Amino acid sequence: MDTSPPIEKVGPDHRAELPVAVVSKTVPFENVHVLTQTPQLIALLTIIRDKKTERADFIFYSNRIIRLLVEEGLNHLPTVEHTVTTPVDRKYDGLSFEGKICGVSIMRAGEAMEQGLRDCCRSVRIGKILIQRDEETTLPKLFYDKLPEDIANRWVLLLDPMFATGGSACMAVEVLISRGVPAERILFLNLIASPQGVGKFAEKFPNVKVVTAFIDEGLDEKKYIIPGLGDFGDRFYTM
Ligand code: PRP
Ligand code: URA
Repeated sequence: MDTSPPIEKVGPDHRAELPVAVVSKTVPFENVHVLTQTPQLIALLTIIRDKKTERADFIFYSNRIIRLLVEEGLNHLPTVEHTVTTPVDRKYDGLSFEGKICGVSIMRAGEAMEQGLRDCCRSVRIGKILIQRDEETTLPKLFYDKLPEDIANRWVLLLDPMFATGGSACMAVEVLISRGVPAERILFLNLIASPQGVGKFAEKFPNVKVVTAFIDEGLDEKKYIIPGLGDFGDRFYTM
């Protein structure tokens, strides 16, 4: 089986010679949606993957991608028909979102995605789950959660930029389900995933939707995503 990453020509189609870039892998899971591999997305990802990129730029360009993820994520929420009257007294048959939402970030790195959600959903409620990967075993450990009281009646946008072994995301979904949130009402927003993490998650939670910007090649011996971008939390908050 060819495991080399897919390389595609990426760019506006009026150019004779298009540049080539590695694009996301595809996976055979209906619940996993990968953002369209546009030149803009690939260029933004190239900046945050670059180890020479400094913190201010890492934050700025990560936020750009997070915004794209949130905007796409909102397309996966249910809507109902909604008719309005315009200022020229005509009807417009449109849509409105159905149901209440909230965000839940997996701390620490997931908190970096909260502002992007707030920018699109004014005064959205946000819960927190503190899960840390043990650096030796790479297994996730749950320390704390604080979630909206009525979370069982909301759609939940679960936020974490890195999806490596999938252990942390699975643990977070288990917490949400234990609080009464149906799996079908959880939407996991993620920047970079590994095929192993996505596979494990999709088999365990076939009804939880995932929206990711990119599925990478795999994991290294320390279970870091490759080529990846290193430690997201360190690069966003402390480096
Ligand atoms: C990172 C990342 C995910 C997790 C992914 O967090 O933000 O939560 O690792 O790895 P996994 O899929 O193998 O579980 P980490 O625990 O390093 O903490 P941080 O957010 O403080 O950086
Ligand atoms: N956490 C990160 O921040 N990066 C990885 O590649 C894996 C876990």
